[in-house]
Amino acid sequence: MSNKPIIFSGMQPSSGSLHIGNYIGALTQWVEMQETFDAYFCVVNLHAITVPQDPAELAARTRLTAAQYIAAGIDPEKSTLFVQSHVPAHTELAWVLNTITGFGEAGRMTQFKDKSQRHGSDKSSVGLFTYPMLMAADILLYQANTVPVGEDQRQHVELTRNLAERFNSRYGHTFTIPTPQIQKETAKIYDLQDPESKMSKSAASEAGLLSILDDPAVTTKKIMRAVTDADGEIRFDRENKPGVSNLLTIFAVLSHRSVESVQNEFAGRGYGDFKKALAEIVAETFTPIRNRTNELLDDPAELDRILFTAAERANATANQTLNTVYDRVGLLRR
Ligand code: TYM
Repeated sequence: MSNKPIIFSGMQPSSGSLHIGNYIGALTQWVEMQETFDAYFCVVNLHAITVPQDPAELAARTRLTAAQYIAAGIDPEKSTLFVQSHVPAHTELAWVLNTITGFGEAGRMTQFKDKSQRHGSDKSSVGLFTYPMLMAADILLYQANTVPVGEDQRQHVELTRNLAERFNSRYGHTFTIPTPQIQKETAKIYDLQDPESKMSKSAASEAGLLSILDDPAVTTKKIMRAVTDADGEIRFDRENKPGVSNLLTIFAVLSHRSVESVQNEFAGRGYGDFKKALAEIVAETFTPIRNRTNELLDDPAELDRILFTAAERANATANQTLNTVYDRVGLLRR
């Protein structure tokens, strides 16, 4: 047991590659935070099946997501990197949390509203509706103090806080109340083709999505074709120049510089030059991550060993919390 504060975060293994929004909005923060926090990073495969998944692909993408975490700098010796379905307490606590969540309260979650509107209510699963309570269970089982995520997860973390407070006041202090950590400048990376919308794996066109496992020829093409504007000036102005501002953010984060310094460097130069330089930085950042991901996938037994070891640790912590919850609620322990 350490005395370090605790963080928990996760990603769904629902695509063939993480995108640069996941990388900048979450993963880069995780890599830094694992140095000072007791960190749990989860591949949330139970969340992924709230929308239809191909079974073989889901299994492959679960390992692939874990491999990308490691390749991007998550150190399994420092952090507990595990797969959600390896820790049954997640679904067990989620059930208890479902029973203290209001139907209307869950219905107000904007991600549920968006997704169910897109698919229609008959095609939307009950699992999609209860998704946020499973996410709350993820966080609360580890008594996380901090949850580093992108802006789109803020409402889910707020719900988690409300449920934790409600449980604590009804049954006695049980859960730490978690705080979301959302980096202001990088909380939302936008689609390259539609820079008013969040970059997302469910976007209409592949061209707007920068995937970290894409070949550099592909990322370069996508960057060169990214939507900008007609005024020709490289300047950060989210409202009037969303495309250029998004590219500036990505450039600054990947080169560990401020937006201002990038802006100064490119003052008076054309979009073509700027995009070319950005494409180089993207390739430089992601080529080693892609190579390392492939190496890790070449040895699935070793990857599984890492995940199983972490799952043992995660189970030990999660079951402690679950036992307390069961006692408080009056459920006989297993
Ligand atoms: P997911 O898999 O959609 O995304 C993973 C992380 O990436 C962030 N993100 C972005 N950040 C900036 N710009 C973007 N365009 C962008 N797109 C995605 C997300 O905010 C997230 O941090 N429900 C979660 C997974 C989850 C979770 C948890 C997270 C399940 N349990 C517990 C934290 C704690 C999700 O679907 O993330």
